[in-house]
Amino acid sequence: MQDPQTTLNAYYEVISKDPKYRFEMGYVKETNTGVFIPSSIDIVRQAFRHLIEGEIMDPLQPFLDAGCGDGRIVALATSLGIPAWGIESDEELVALSKQNLINLRKLAVLNSTPARIHRGNFAAAATYQILDKSFSEFGTVYNYTNNHEQVGEMIARHSPPGTLYILYSGDEQTEEFPGLTLLEELFLVDQTGRDIVDLELDQAFVRIYDKT
Ligand SMILES: C[S@@+](CC[C@H](N)C(=O)[O-])C[C@H]1O[C@@H](n2cnc3c(N)ncnc32)[C@H](O)[C@@H]1O
Repeated sequence: MQDPQTTLNAYYEVISKDPKYRFEMGYVKETNTGVFIPSSIDIVRQAFRHLIEGEIMDPLQPFLDAGCGDGRIVALATSLGIPAWGIESDEELVALSKQNLINLRKLAVLNSTPARIHRGNFAAAATYQILDKSFSEFGTVYNYTNNHEQVGEMIARHSPPGTLYILYSGDEQTEEFPGLTLLEELFLVDQTGRDIVDLELDQAFVRIYDKT
C-alpha cells in the first residue's frame, strides 16, 4: 500500500490538473475575499515536521487554516494527526474541500482525526458562533498571505499567549504584526520534482510567529 503522504500529494496533483476541477483561470480562482492559489503541500509538510520535531508546534492543539481554498492544508494537518478546521468564503471551494476530505478518508489518507470545513468569513465573529470552536481555541493558525493582517490582529486580540501563526508567502519582505513575535523564518523548496501547477510556488517563505 502507498504511504498516505504520497497518496495525498498525488491526489491534489491529479485534481489540480483535471479539467473537471479547474476554474476559468486554471487552478486559481478570484473569490469575493481574495484569490485562491494553493500552497505547496510538500513545503508546508516540511514546515510542520520541523515545528513538531522542534516542539514549537503542539500537534494536539486545534489547527485553523484561515482561507482554506481546496482544503489541502486541512487534509495535510489531519493526515499528520493534527485536528484541523478550515474556513473559506467561496461556496465552490467549500464544496470542493468537503468532497476532497471525503475522498481522502476513503483513500485512508485521513483517519479519525477531526477535519472540518466551514463556509464563512474568517475575520467575522459570527463565523465562530456557528463553529464548534471559538477563535481563541486554535493553538495554530495558518494563512497563505490573503487578508493575513486581519489574522494577525485577531490572534493579537483574542488568542492566548503562545498561539502560533504560520504564514506562507512568496514575498521576501517579512511581515510584522503588533503583539506577535517572529520566531522563525524558513525558506523551503518543493522537493517532489513534479510539474508546478499554474501560480503555485515551488519555493516559499514560511514565517512562524507567536502571540507574545
Ligand atoms: C491563497 S489561497 C490559500 C488556500 C489554502 N489555504 C492553501 O494554502 O492552499 C487564500 C484563500 O483564502 C480565502 N479567503 C481570503 N480571505 C478570506 C476571509 N476573510 N474569509 C474566508 N476565506 C477567505 C480565499 O477565498 C482563498 O481561497
